[in-house]
Amino acid sequence: MQRTFGIIKPDAVAAGHTGAILAIIEKAGFRIAGLKMTRLSRAQAEAFYEVHKARPFYASLVNFMTEGPVVVMVLERENAIQQWRDTMGATNPANAAEGTIRKLFAQSIERNAVHGSDAPETAAVEIPFFFPGAELL
Ligand code: RTP
Ligand code: MG
Repeated sequence: MQRTFGIIKPDAVAAGHTGAILAIIEKAGFRIAGLKMTRLSRAQAEAFYEVHKARPFYASLVNFMTEGPVVVMVLERENAIQQWRDTMGATNPANAAEGTIRKLFAQSIERNAVHGSDAPETAAVEIPFFFPGAELL
């Protein structure tokens, strides 16, 4: 069993896709170990995406991620990190496979509906960023 971290981003929450995305997640065989709605402060968003600080899209990404509520979650299954990336689809919805969340719901390469940890080391940092151990069930 492996755990990964996911976000339903502000575009998808505002568009009313939270329930549909959670249904896809459960149908794909993930167990939801943690789930809550929150709104990222600027400082949180800057820290969360620190790895992209030098990229031209960083400021815009931070604005986007703070524009409204998000749903943060911890997803558990075998090979969860890769499976969640596969369920999300490619970063740019133009390249996302049929049936993936980004193909279904992303508006653009930035407003792309969901986030997922990209490696075990990333998940190990991102999960406790939002969830104290006692909130994981
Ligand atoms: P994420 O971290 O959110 O799961 O997405 P990802 O791994 O598929 O993509 P990554 O390269 O880590 O980029 C993080 C997020 O930044 C926004 N982005 N905008 N305008 C652009 O060219 C651009 N490129 C990336 C997206 O919201 C992307 O998910
Ligand atoms: Mg990423």
